[in-house]
Parts: sequence; C-alpha cells; structure tokens
Amino acid sequence: TQRPIMVQGPMPIEAENFAKRLKNVKEEKSGDFVFYIGTLDNYPVIVAKTGKGMENTAAATAVAMERYNPIAIINQGTSGGHDPSLNVFDIVLGERTVNLGSLKTADKAVNEGIDPTIWKPMDLMASEGSAGEDPNAEKPRFYEGDKDLLAAAHAVKDTYTKGKVVDGTIGSADVWNNEVDRIKWFHTKYGTSVEEMEGASAAQIAKAYDVPFLGIRVLSNNKVNGGKYNPNTAAANQEYVYEVVKKYISSM
Ligand code: 5AD
Repeated sequence: TQRPIMVQGPMPIEAENFAKRLKNVKEEKSGDFVFYIGTLDNYPVIVAKTGKGMENTAAATAVAMERYNPIAIINQGTSGGHDPSLNVFDIVLGERTVNLGSLKTADKAVNEGIDPTIWKPMDLMASEGSAGEDPNAEKPRFYEGDKDLLAAAHAVKDTYTKGKVVDGTIGSADVWNNEVDRIKWFHTKYGTSVEEMEGASAAQIAKAYDVPFLGIRVLSNNKVNGGKYNPNTAAANQEYVYEVVKKYISSM
C-alpha cells in the first residue's frame, strides 16, 4: 500500500479548508487530534488538525508516525513576520525551521536580575548529555526543509497570486512576540523570517523518524512593518499547499 502524505494545520481555519478538498474522506480521532484520511489525485493524503502549540504538534506527529507511516509531512498555517520586507499574505517556505524556545540564560546570582538579550540559543539535540553543561549545545538547532518538497513548492509558486513566495527560516515556540526589539534579536541571531508555534516540533519528530519535512507559513500579521492580522490568510495558504501536494504527487 502507498504511504500517505500528511498535511498538518493547528487551528480549524488552518486545516478544514484542505480537508474539505480531499476525496473519500474518513475521520479518525486520537485524543484531541483529528485526522481526515482521504485521497488527492487518487493518492492517499491525510490532513491532521493538531491543535495549537509545540506539545500538541509533537504528540500529533508521533501518533501519526505510528498509525499512518507517512511518506512526507508538511506543517502549514499562519505566522507573524520577523522580516520587514515580508507582508501579510506572503508565504515562507521553511528552508530551515528552528525552536526559538530552546534557550540558556546567563549565569547570575541573586539580585543580579534577568537579561533576555544575553540568553543563548540551546541545542537539545547536540548530545545525549546535559545541555546546561555542554558548550557545544550553545547554538540553535536548525531542521532542514526536504529538497523534493521544496522543489515541488518552487514549481507551483506562480499559482499563488495573493503575495510572494520566498524561502526562509521559520522560528517556533509557545510564545507570541510583540516586542519589536525582541523580534529583531531573533531575526538577527537566528535569521528568522517568521514565527509561529508548531513547525520546529513537527520537524524534530519528523527527523527522529527520518521522514521528509517542510514548513509552509503564510504571514497573518507582521508587527515589524505594521501588518495587521488577517485570518483569511489561513485559507489562502491551504490553497497554495494544495497545489504543492498535487505537484509532489505528480513527481512520485
Ligand atoms: N506569533 C506566534 N504565533 C503566531 N501564529 C500566527 N501569528 C503568530 C505570531 N505572530 C500562529 C501560531 C499559533 C497561532 C497563535 O497562530 O502558529 O498556532
């Protein structure tokens, strides 16, 4: 039997449009996670409504690995801009995805205060030893977007007319950053194009199971250039991702 392609979306508005476009859909649940199991161009595709955040996404991804053995995973949805040249409705293809919540603070004694500007990125996958003690862990861990998924996404760029489609870096954490200086800090230190709350956790689990992965994120807001939140971006992204999946299937 053919291994399914999995498309993940956190919120109902980020998953249900795509799910509605599948044929022969059967719904399965596991905990809070909903899996819409269907076909696209006669190839098996599963849309996963994961819920928001890193924990839901990691768990939903691991459950999907064990239940459905996907051949590839696309994690997609909305995001907030870190790059001033990106506008609401632009789409970022995650050449790289990184966990922005993995941090080591400075070494300070009582009454020496708190200083997030000198916190260091921390790579929990650097070794099996203590990340707090390992100097090799003082760096971000980037998960690479899969080349074939990226190629499919590049090939259908022109089908998207609501904004531009660019390669970039997706940063994830259970945090919504509204401090422009903090956003700039991530943009400089990690090269982030956008932030959201799921991509890096799915990428980490995909890597653990050696399954090709790509994050595809539309900007629904951009604090850096005053881009106001627009929830309609979620549907626009699913339309584009639908074209990406069609292309990927046609090349298999
Ligand atoms: N910061 C963090 N998450 C964001 N999301 C959209 N914009 C942002 C932002 N600026 C996405 C997250 C999460 C939900 C809050 O929307 O991925 O699922």
